[in-house]
Amino acid sequence: MNVTIFGTGYVGLVQGTILADVGHQVVCVDVDADKVERLKQGQVPIYEPGLEPLLKDNYAAGRLTFTTDAAEGVKHGEVQFIAVGTPPDEDGSADLQHVLAVAETIAQHMDSHRIVVDKSTVPVGTADKVRARMLEVLRARERDDLTFDVVSNPEFLKEGSAVADCQKPERIIIGTESEDTEELMRELYAPFNRNRDKVIVMDVRSAELTKYAANCMLATKISFMNEIANLAERLGADIEQVRQGIGSDPRIGYHFIYPGVGYGGSCFPKDVQALIRTAGDIDFDAKVLKAVVARNEEQKTTLFHKINAHFDGELAGKTFAIWGLSFKPNTDDMREAPSRVLMEALWAGGAKVQAYDPEAMEETQRLYGNRDDLTLCGTKETALKGADALVIVTEWQSFRAPDFDLIKQQLSEPTIFDGRNMFEPKRMINKGFTYYSVGRK
Ligand code: UDX
Repeated sequence: MNVTIFGTGYVGLVQGTILADVGHQVVCVDVDADKVERLKQGQVPIYEPGLEPLLKDNYAAGRLTFTTDAAEGVKHGEVQFIAVGTPPDEDGSADLQHVLAVAETIAQHMDSHRIVVDKSTVPVGTADKVRARMLEVLRARERDDLTFDVVSNPEFLKEGSAVADCQKPERIIIGTESEDTEELMRELYAPFNRNRDKVIVMDVRSAELTKYAANCMLATKISFMNEIANLAERLGADIEQVRQGIGSDPRIGYHFIYPGVGYGGSCFPKDVQALIRTAGDIDFDAKVLKAVVARNEEQKTTLFHKINAHFDGELAGKTFAIWGLSFKPNTDDMREAPSRVLMEALWAGGAKVQAYDPEAMEETQRLYGNRDDLTLCGTKETALKGADALVIVTEWQSFRAPDFDLIKQQLSEPTIFDGRNMFEPKRMINKGFTYYSVGRK
């Protein structure tokens, strides 16, 4: 099948590569000429395990191409994916200008029936806006004889396992009321729809809301758990035992109930805010979601408060080793990362930071540049040298079994603030550490 994808960000690039890999002919369009050039040379602008070799193979095989030529893209695909960014604007609602610009482009260049697929996370009602914008353009072209259908087909991939998520989706949501479109979308996804039928067809608005509901539910689980962790700490209970106790109930489950330093990333913060905003637009007060945000903001400051209390508010001149800067492991993404809230608070208190992350060093450099109070370290060990404490913000695999003796040797005081509950408190105390975790005794 011929497929065109507008936008070579996370979603577009992964989806395009995976569709090409099963044999579809995929053209990816992006306005950024530099990026397109780099992609043609097999350079993937994001760190995503498994993506680069797959992209190179499919490009070499001629199934995946990159272009800035929108007209060529519109001509190519019977299915046109819109996978461009929807950044939050000042009030938290998703900015649809890029999505609508692509809609215009498609209507401008199409000369036969097209299926337009909203893949970006877009507010409920966006498909209607895309349809309206396309109709306007077609009318202006005096080509309102041309037919098209707008489908909502939200993406559920997770950064760090995006390739696998895309290859083996748990569900494929297709929002359309047209049987022909359903048929075509089923054909497109047939290679991913084996073992059991993962396609769930629904009306467009329900599909759009499904994406927000999924992310908001997961964010709610995390904020809820962080709240219970705070309670556990104050009540003398252990959140790890509570987590296992409640997770064993299949109605609750073990997923997404890990307390920590608050959720970050490109999806949860943005999507929860956007749904609150959508609710506000129709005069509905999304009380639960507002509480989810409030708890998360506060949770991002808990490590700092623990550090500040430990040092009696005297942070000036202190140095902190930070392990983990990306918002979660296996990505270099630092959008809304709790590490940023922590570092900025430490700097404001006059402290210095020696930071290490397996992937996000370049991103940290890009965000903060050269400053006297930030040292970017090449290894997790060098970050420790002479620091007053170690702070773990992201639970990378390579942090799970560190050389504790070395940590003790390198730190001026054997103190660890662990924002991800990576170690057993008792063991740490036995090893001679002052050990702070989240929600544990
Ligand atoms: C998320 C959704 O999981 C995915 O389905 C959607 O398409 C996009 O948003 P992503 O943002 O890549 O994916 O990361 P995810 O693994 O979901 O983690 C999000 C944040 O929640 C991270 O900051 C993570 O550290 C935090 N988290 C996750 C917790 O604090 N506790 C948990 O139990 C799980």
